[in-house]
Formats: sequence, structure tokens, C-alpha cells
Amino acid sequence: MKSILLEKIGDTVNGLLIPLGYRLAILNTTLGNHSFKKAVKKATKISVISPEALWHIWSCIKATEDLRGSIVEIGVYKGGSLKLMEYATNKVIYGFDTFEGMPKETKEDNYHKKGDFSVEFKNVKRAFSNNNSVNLVKGLFNKESILPEIISFGHIDVDLYSSTKVSLEKVYDRLCEGGLIIVDDYGFRTTKGARKAVKEFLHNRKIIGVELNTGQFLIQKNSSYE
Ligand SMILES: C[S@@+](CC[C@H](N)C(=O)[O-])C[C@H]1O[C@@H](n2cnc3c(N)ncnc32)[C@H](O)[C@@H]1O
Repeated sequence: MKSILLEKIGDTVNGLLIPLGYRLAILNTTLGNHSFKKAVKKATKISVISPEALWHIWSCIKATEDLRGSIVEIGVYKGGSLKLMEYATNKVIYGFDTFEGMPKETKEDNYHKKGDFSVEFKNVKRAFSNNNSVNLVKGLFNKESILPEIISFGHIDVDLYSSTKVSLEKVYDRLCEGGLIIVDDYGFRTTKGARKAVKEFLHNRKIIGVELNTGQFLIQKNSSYE
């Protein structure tokens, strides 16, 4: 009862904090196993993603562990979810971000503005300096961006319409058969453009996916219909 009340208070506070780039981490103590709990403690210090959503990322990485390919994240910010991904796998990971905040929003976007989530790149670099398997790629992610040849799991957390659209197109094209993508921003009132981009992508490619109770959206490659 006490923990339900705490979670409710946490949700209300986070509704105000997340658009500003902060989050109060309230961990549901029954969530995950021992190694996840250790990782999530580190990740939530610098992530705007909820522990529940981080658990979905963790599960996807574990589920695709035996597939060929690297892991990518588009939308790193301070490196919170990337930190969790680092704990979850020994695979090579690529983290893409401007590290100067959001690019220009479009008319599809309803909340975030250019420059939101700007961060000191040197601090992010320092957080991953002792792991050669984690590669940070600084710059605008767009059509010309170079991704690894084969991807087993992609985490897309870029909030805006055009960023989500280009990230989905490019990551899906490099995803191995059975590989998974999580789009973070499907179910939030501050990221309507991202939701639109996901819907258009599913429609154009004739793909189905699953909306999760965390606001995330899960896609697996080769689940297309005729
Ligand atoms: C919500 S933050 C990511 C949060 C992070 N995953 C975490 O765990 O806290 C969204 C990030 O997407 C980045 N971003 C949005 N569009 C981008 C683009 N086209 N290219 C590169 N970075 C982009 C922003 O700079 C911002 O750091």
C-alpha cells in the first residue's frame, strides 16, 4: 500500500520533472533480478527513463544476446539508458546524440524545442571512458549517419518527429532477423510527433508492434503483414 502511494506521488512529480530533463527514481522493488538492480541504480542517477522502462530495455538486450549484431542507442543525453545497456551486455554499443540538445522541432512536435537536453559532452565521455566497447558518436543523426552493419537491438529515444522517423528507418534497415527496437516516446503527452512518426513507419512498412505500459513501443524485425 505504502509503495503504491509512493509510486503515485512519484508519477505526479515526474510528470513535472521529465520535460525539464530530470526524474525522481522510485524503483518497484519486485522488478528485475540482482544484476538489473545493480545496473538500474547507476542508470537512474543520470537517466530520464523510468526503472520499469529500463527493465524493458534490459530484457530486450538479454533476449537478443545470441543474435548477430551490435547495439545502438539514438538519444543518449547524459548516458543513463546507455549505462544500463553497458551493464546488460558485452556487445559493442554505439550511442548517437548531438550532445548539444534537440535539433529544430517541426510542426508535428508539441513540446520539446531546439536545445532541450543539452549536456556537457566531456561528462558523458567520462562516464564511459573505461569501456572501449561503448562508442559515443557526436552529431546530428540524419539520413547520412553511419550505423554498424548489423544491429541486434536498437533503443530510440529522440522525442521529436523527424528524429524518430529517420532513426526508425535507418535502425530497422540494419536490424538482423528477430532483432528488436524500443522507441521510448510513443505514449507521452510531450512527444506527440514521435508517436506520429512510429505510426507512419508501421503503416508504410506494414509492420506491427506492441505499445508497452511504460509509454515505450516495441518492434521486432520480420513481423510484416501483406
Ligand atoms: C530524452 S533525451 C534521451 C534520454 C536518455 N536516453 C536517458 O536515458 O536519459 C533525448 C536526446 O535525443 C537527442 N536527439 C534528438 N534528436 C536527435 C538527432 N536527430 N540527432 C542526435 N541527437 C538527437 C537530444 O540531444 C537528447 O539528448
